Amino acid sequence: MKGVVLAGGLGTRLYPLTKVTNKHLLPVFNKPMIYYPIYTLVDAGIKDILIVTGGHSAGDFLRLLGNGKEFGLKHLNYTYQEGEGGIADALSLAEHFAGGGKFVVILGDNIIEKSIKKEVEIFEKQKEGARILLKEVEKPERFGVAEIKNGKIVRIVEKPEKPPSNLVVTGIYMYDSYAFEVIKTLKPSARGELEITDVNNSYLSAGKLTYGVLDGWWTDAGTFESLLRANNLVYEREKKRCG
Ligand code: G1P
Repeated sequence: MKGVVLAGGLGTRLYPLTKVTNKHLLPVFNKPMIYYPIYTLVDAGIKDILIVTGGHSAGDFLRLLGNGKEFGLKHLNYTYQEGEGGIADALSLAEHFAGGGKFVVILGDNIIEKSIKKEVEIFEKQKEGARILLKEVEKPERFGVAEIKNGKIVRIVEKPEKPPSNLVVTGIYMYDSYAFEVIKTLKPSARGELEITDVNNSYLSAGKLTYGVLDGWWTDAGTFESLLRANNLVYEREKKRCG
């Protein structure tokens, strides 16, 4: 299975922290943010990884990550997203890399406590379609929110004013190559982006979307509060690990 880390965007919600650098290069405790999603993929047994970056400072990713030796990798792939087209637009750049096979996508600002290895194994056995990972949070309105009935997702709403549940769609997605067909049909949302939620809803309509609930804590790091939270959570985890 291949893996894709999406690390483009202008990070405007973190301005001026992102005035001269890319959000995913900012520190989270003792490492640059992008290290964490790369570790998440590597820990799940994924060795063939594409980094999609964009905006300014794209060259810094190469200087920082090189060929991924620090992560035990022999090679890293890179591509560049022009403009601010959103997550689904960034993902469309991975079509060639995916080569028709299944792959795992993780947003470059998503940090988790535990492993997704078991979830990736479940998806490896899934014949086709997509699998997403949900997590219960206190304030779901900032995210894609899943409505569940009788143990099944019935719809996903992006940043709803009145969330139908507390279960949000984390930035960890597993897809087959149908994702690229869907992206080609998408129109920009009100925020001018191609939404990953539209990709997930398309799989849902086709009856090809499964889900798991993520074990341990999960956070993004794209706002001041969540960046601070990410720092604190990683610090606490490392303190526990190192004693
Ligand atoms: C994006 C997705 C949203 C998802 C979130 C996870 O939100 O659009 O559905 O819940 O990532 O981090 P954004 O960070 O673009 O606001």
